[in-house]
Amino acid sequence: MSVPMSAPDITEAEIQAVQQVLHTSYLSIGPQIKAFEQAMADYVGLPHAVGVNSGTSGLHLCCIATGARDGDLVITTPFSFIASANSILYERAIPIFVDVDPVTGNIDPQLVAEAASDLMRGGTAARRWLPRRHNTLGILRAIMPVHAFGQPADMDPINAVAAEYGLHVIEDACEAIGSMYKGRMAGTLSDAAVFAFYPNKQMTTGEGGMIVTHRDDWASLFRSLRNQGRDVFDAWLNHTRLGYNYRLDEMSAALGVVQLQRIEELIARRAQVAAWYNEQLADLELVERPQLSPHTTRMSWFVYVIRILPPADRNTVMRRLADAGIPSRPYFTPIHLQPFYREQFGYQPGDFPVTERLGNLSLALPFSSVMREEQVTEVVHHLRAALQ
Ligand SMILES: Cc1ncc(COP(=O)(O)O)c(C=O)c1O
Repeated sequence: MSVPMSAPDITEAEIQAVQQVLHTSYLSIGPQIKAFEQAMADYVGLPHAVGVNSGTSGLHLCCIATGARDGDLVITTPFSFIASANSILYERAIPIFVDVDPVTGNIDPQLVAEAASDLMRGGTAARRWLPRRHNTLGILRAIMPVHAFGQPADMDPINAVAAEYGLHVIEDACEAIGSMYKGRMAGTLSDAAVFAFYPNKQMTTGEGGMIVTHRDDWASLFRSLRNQGRDVFDAWLNHTRLGYNYRLDEMSAALGVVQLQRIEELIARRAQVAAWYNEQLADLELVERPQLSPHTTRMSWFVYVIRILPPADRNTVMRRLADAGIPSRPYFTPIHLQPFYREQFGYQPGDFPVTERLGNLSLALPFSSVMREEQVTEVVHHLRAALQ
């Protein structure tokens, strides 16, 4: 039996929906994106949803909306997929990393408060938050928490810091569609948020993303920026600002419409798979299972990530699993230790100890909504052997 690392959950309804688009002459900028955006706005309960061609492009547009550019500062987490910090760099702004909570792996709100206070004050206190190879103290514009693995970051204290200093907040909700923080939907807890739909996500459009926001002005800006800087979606070739081609095509949007209709089912199936793992891993002393914060009133599982505790070694376990035909991944490799960030900013091991510890221990196991109980059993069987 082969167990894939992840798999999309596609039914005949999705296939039909995409095929129908191919029978029309609207393969881009047509009715499907409008339908997808309306359905997404309704789902999260916000007035605006703007479809884009990836989570990364959505985050880039959100960074533009915050006004962060050319040496300005954005507080974010090093324990994420690289796109969160990269989206800040696209505007030549500087990600200011702060370390994470050891339980959830989400940005530590206490450190966000300290960093914001120091950076607003300036002087020596501010400089300790800057990367080694960056000496100019730009203006602090925004905070970008990430809902890692689908679990919402602790947003209330983060928003309190933002309110105190007049900062924007962008949620990187790429991994967290449908999650809830204190009963509120992930994606509704900030100025704007981004969901992503790569095929390993809870729902997919192939490639794709969606920005959601309560702000009318930002929604218009996003629509313009994704469409080459045109002011209105259908306007003639009049380009008001520097824009991009970040449009989501109609086939992807049609796929998204059906996946979103099924989102509750998809989230429930993933929760069932996570429950099987939780149960079957319970007696493994060298495995720490994912832990949820009491703030997480609903978890939307993106990945199932365990920690391999010493004296067991994560990389050895991963290699043994691979030898047995079971894929697994280290998740996340800290952003500040990625070669580009080390070279550009002079980051070194030891800079963010909690993130690095989690990065060294974390192992994502095969996970999807189509995974069957016997496949979970097989993975756990081989994991047990790999830990011997
Ligand atoms: C936390 C996080 N941010 C951003 C992204 C980027 O999304 P995409 O791959 O759609 O560009 C992803 C998805 O992989 C992600 O997991």
